[in-house]
Amino acid sequence: MEIDDINSITVLGAGNMGHGIAEVAALAGYDVTLRDINEEFVQSGYDDIEWSLNKLAEKDQISQEDADAALDRVTPLVDVEESVTDADVVIEAVPEKMGIKEDVYTEASEYAPDQAIFATNTSSLSITDLSEFTDNPEQFCGMHFFNPPVRMQLVEVISGEHTDEATLDVIEELAEDFGKTPVRVHRDSPGFIVNRILVPLMNEACWLVHEGEATIEEVDSTTKYGMGLPMGSFELGDQVGNDVSYHVLEYMHDVLGEAYEPCPLLAEKVENEELGKKTGKGFYDYENGGADVPS
Ligand code: 3HC
Repeated sequence: MEIDDINSITVLGAGNMGHGIAEVAALAGYDVTLRDINEEFVQSGYDDIEWSLNKLAEKDQISQEDADAALDRVTPLVDVEESVTDADVVIEAVPEKMGIKEDVYTEASEYAPDQAIFATNTSSLSITDLSEFTDNPEQFCGMHFFNPPVRMQLVEVISGEHTDEATLDVIEELAEDFGKTPVRVHRDSPGFIVNRILVPLMNEACWLVHEGEATIEEVDSTTKYGMGLPMGSFELGDQVGNDVSYHVLEYMHDVLGEAYEPCPLLAEKVENEELGKKTGKGFYDYENGGADVPS
């Protein structure tokens, strides 16, 4: 498969990352199918794309015409067979659980064309292990976007043990066509590059607060004004989703060891379904003032 052969892209999973990736692909001119397990999830992802495109148009970052045309290129679907049957590239962005991903790949590879490339937006899981759930592991790689995909420049393009060079080349070109900057990651290690650095930083911030050494506001002020990151650690956790960071840490803890033990403060947020912006509450309360109001 060459980049010029790619017309149709299917994104599996219409959550935070899935809908953002679908939006980026549609803005780049591709026909996009957005698939999730029920009408409610897929419609919510579609509505989020519409909101985001209108926001970009409002701010003159794109024209309203381009926003409308991009939305027209997105087809929301629930049926797996229908969603992948014409796909040139399938990008998977379903929850960060090996079992869920296995089911999705097993079903999707049954119906996708034999030449289709599969790319996963996993935050940390092994590309090699995931590739083995598909029929053509050599046509499989990581394509890791950052939240929010429409605003973040980087895409990690990650090789698994079975991935062939041609697949990496095409996915790298596709990322460029999306207007992004791809970085090739040759080692399929937990968290790849960004999350190996960023998620432990967010976890360490949690430990500081958990142990009573600092408050959420103090930590976030130092992250923003001292380290120069665009958001505080807790703000970023809420942006990414506390469940996502927690699952990444659980996996890194299993594979890499003790240093990556998820902080109980983070576990508590996940248990209470205080997952961040997407649930209206995380470390901050977004229904009552956002990042100015700790929850
Ligand atoms: N689409 C359109 N508009 C959006 C948007 C989206 N998806 N998300 C936010 N906006 C809008 C907001 O509504 C707000 O609009 P308003 O001004 O009308 O209220 C505006 O953008 C926010 O803009 P700001 O001027 O306040 O902020 P900036 O434009 O300077 O930056 C940001 C926003 C790009 C999110 C910046 O804060 C940032 O870079 N944050 C860090 C994000 C980051 O590090 N992400 C990576 C996390 S790691 C990850 O995702 C990996 C995963 O595997 C865990």
